[in-house]
Amino acid sequence: VHVHVKCLFMYSCVCPNQSDCLLFLQQLTGTLAIAVFTATLGSLQYGYSLGVINAPQKIVERHYGRFLGVWSEEASVRSENSTEEEEIPEAGKHPVVIMYWSLSVAIFSIGGMLSSFLVGFMGDLRGRVKGMLMINILAIVAGLLMGLCKMWKPHIMVISGRAVMGFYCGLTSGLVPMYIGEIAPKAYRGALGALHQLAIVTGILISQVIGLDFILGNDDMWPLLFGLSGAPAVLQSLLLPLCPESPRYLYILLGKEQEARTSLCRLKGAYDATSDLEEMKREKEEADREPRVSILSLIRSSVYRQRLLVALVMHLSQQFSGINAIFYYSTAIFTRAGVSQPVYATIGVGVINTVFTLVAVALVDKAGRRTLTLAGLGGMCCCAIAMTVGLKFQNEYSWMSYVSMSAIFLFVSFFEIGPGPIPWFIVAELFSQGPRSAAIALAGCCNWTSNFIIGMTFPYIEVLLDCYVFILFAVLLLCFTVFTYLRVPETKGKTFEEIAAVFQKGQKKRQRDNAELQQLKTSTDA
Ligand code: GLC
Repeated sequence: VHVHVKCLFMYSCVCPNQSDCLLFLQQLTGTLAIAVFTATLGSLQYGYSLGVINAPQKIVERHYGRFLGVWSEEASVRSENSTEEEEIPEAGKHPVVIMYWSLSVAIFSIGGMLSSFLVGFMGDLRGRVKGMLMINILAIVAGLLMGLCKMWKPHIMVISGRAVMGFYCGLTSGLVPMYIGEIAPKAYRGALGALHQLAIVTGILISQVIGLDFILGNDDMWPLLFGLSGAPAVLQSLLLPLCPESPRYLYILLGKEQEARTSLCRLKGAYDATSDLEEMKREKEEADREPRVSILSLIRSSVYRQRLLVALVMHLSQQFSGINAIFYYSTAIFTRAGVSQPVYATIGVGVINTVFTLVAVALVDKAGRRTLTLAGLGGMCCCAIAMTVGLKFQNEYSWMSYVSMSAIFLFVSFFEIGPGPIPWFIVAELFSQGPRSAAIALAGCCNWTSNFIIGMTFPYIEVLLDCYVFILFAVLLLCFTVFTYLRVPETKGKTFEEIAAVFQKGQKKRQRDNAELQQLKTSTDA
């Protein structure tokens, strides 16, 4: 398996030339591959939970309606056959069912918003590996609650399960990039970091496929479909004991040099770890000089302000690009654009999503984070304009539905080459060990909150702006592109120290400029 993974990477052109390939082969050990694979099972679970709720909506609504006694099959059949004016509504249109269903969807993000604050605490408590292991209890409990929901009140069981799963996902979406960022060799930090997103999109795709009505998205099997979201946690719990703890955590946080050295050698193979330990030593000295960086002190600190701004705006741009408007409502959007089989078009989006994340994995350490983010955001902005044109003129020209369709596919492709995967791992790159956990927690919370806002408000915005809805995203995307151009530095191939230096240089320059400006002002006044 190890040899195959290595070959796959070689041929997926991660390595541009032979000497790079040799270095890569030396650095990608079986232990590193297992550690990254194991960690990303958490991301897979996150993606699955994001996507699973879409396909079986009608089935679950009907089940809720039947259980709550507000809807019955006979009544709806009668309504279809009756010639009377009065219509008996679908289960999903009953206010009680709407309330319970909306809660089942939204509570997931609320759980994530709350727990993302605890990422730093969980990661530092017993280490990254034990942190991931401990939180798996949440995922398994959540899976059981949803899988066994028919045994008690299904709506309450599903809502509790989704809340616990959201709580788990808020933690895992921070812990996985943190762990991978800390164990990845510098030259492949981007590719390995992007595997978090690759696992998310794979999870979304799996849930879309097995959510089809002839697989698990039907009346009998939907609890299993929901319950399966806890399955990767079982596998991950079995594999985590094989994974070495993050050497940065061991050395910088706990001061255990020997253990850090052992962990480095397990991850990178037999090599001289002195230079890596030297780098960590300098980071540790810097971290020891400062007081412990909590979330509050991170927000207040002027030293980290620029970095924090970049991290938060990158997460905002990921969510306010409108990607989840496409994911949550793609079936409705395709129907509106005149597509006859919208469910399959949605799965098509999932496939494109996965393929282009693979492209990002292959490119991110060569083209760089900044270039890919710029290309992605700029491309998405153009696609949002094309979607608007398509929606506006679809009644006048039938071929316009192809314009909308292609625009949606391209929109998703541009998202995945940069704005999708990069924000997840760049936060761990922008911050040194001291503030890293707090920064990941804040960025995660920002991501979850904006995801929740888009999920809740998009249907209303759509009603308000009608076919111009994507113009809103085009404007936002343009602003994010400009911001990236002006403020986001390249982190490719740099050590954490070198990245910190870029910001310190910027900060010193701004201080010099301000001082000069002040001097100029004083002399003019005089
Ligand atoms: C990113 C986003 C997530 C979105 C997914 C789509 O992981 O954080 O909200 O659904 O990409 O691929």
